[in-house]
Amino acid sequence: MKKRILRSLSLLLALMVVFSLAGAPAGAAAAGKAKKKEVLVAYFSATGTTKAAAKKVKKATGGTLYQIKAADPYTAADLDYNKNCRANAEQNADDARPEIKDRVKNIKKYDVIFLGYPIWWGKEPKIIRTFLESYDLKGKKIVTFCTSGGSGISGSMKEVKQSAKGADVVKGKDLTDLSYKQVAKWAKSKI
Ligand SMILES: Cc1cc2nc3c(=O)[nH]c(=O)nc-3n(C[C@H](O)[C@H](O)[C@H](O)COP(=O)(O)O)c2cc1C
Repeated sequence: MKKRILRSLSLLLALMVVFSLAGAPAGAAAAGKAKKKEVLVAYFSATGTTKAAAKKVKKATGGTLYQIKAADPYTAADLDYNKNCRANAEQNADDARPEIKDRVKNIKKYDVIFLGYPIWWGKEPKIIRTFLESYDLKGKKIVTFCTSGGSGISGSMKEVKQSAKGADVVKGKDLTDLSYKQVAKWAKSKI
């Protein structure tokens, strides 16, 4: 009887050792490796400069590229800021929210959103506010970037933060004169 109990106990012990060894590598790997972050690179670009910067960010991060397109596209006359143009009128109206042509598919799956835009009169174009206010961005990390004639990104941060309710908005960079290598180093450090 004693022998049988001993034999059963040692069999149980052996089974426990086998299972714990089999489970160990997978468990260790899971503990040591965080879930890969899903990246979206969303950008608005009227004349192509921000688009080129966004492509560098996409290449560096492996993210999904999404272009924010105005439902009513901007013409050269709309951007002629020395005149009384559409872009100027929008920037001067707090509540202007130019309509966007389409939506991001399944925005839920993204953890980090790189958000790029040109600087218009020191700030983000109003269509960026339309974009941010069109989604539930709670819990997401938003990293801004811009291109400009020299004003830089600082002046846009207040309104971007106001529109990105519940998101962790990280002040990014003006990428206008940065090489791919410089953009890649910066973008990878933000994920
Ligand atoms: C309406 C308008 C206003 C602008 N205002 C500024 C400004 O305040 N400061 C600045 O440095 N550049 C300004 N720019 C220049 C753009 O930010 C710059 O050319 C940008 O790289 C354009 O990006 P895009 O080609 O992606 O549209 C303005 C351009 C436009 C059309």
